[in-house]
Amino acid sequence: MAGSMERTLVFVKPDGLHRRLVGRILQRFEEKGLHLVGLKLARLSEDLIREHYAEHRGKPFYELLVRFVLSGPVVLMVLEGPEAASVVRSLVGATSGAKASPGTIRGDFGVSQRFNLVHASDGPASAEREVAHFFAPDELVSWRPSDMDWLDETAGKEPNS
Ligand code: CMP
Repeated sequence: MAGSMERTLVFVKPDGLHRRLVGRILQRFEEKGLHLVGLKLARLSEDLIREHYAEHRGKPFYELLVRFVLSGPVVLMVLEGPEAASVVRSLVGATSGAKASPGTIRGDFGVSQRFNLVHASDGPASAEREVAHFFAPDELVSWRPSDMDWLDETAGKEPNS
């Protein structure tokens, strides 16, 4: 990957599927200039969820969080682009929908702290770990969008040169 290109992990939680918001959520990432390198619908196993949320074990909301994410399918995606992890986090907004700014995914589509529609890696290191946790290497497709030179000035040549 050239320059500051990064990959990050997002999954739409069961509330996003029940509310039929998957397309609108994915559209926000694409419109911003990120592109998909991995995408799948899955029911996560309890072991995978508990491992993913291990840092929250023991917190008052932990068991309810595990039950919520177990309660239905999720849509997992790996997005690539310049500074992808921080770009995605800013599009997603604060953890609680009630506090998230208007214009963010959580700020526009929810008011709940637990049912907050998406999980997004919180930085490049966790993104690398979480991509490997949820995707096998052969599930990821490397490719270069045709408009990349207009999206990332570190990507290489001048547009149209
Ligand atoms: P996520 O970004 O997936 O990381 C941990 C999740 O725990 C978070 O989104 C919420 O779904 C949930 N969560 C965090 N804090 C609380 C809380 N105080 N009460 C209920 N759920 C929470």
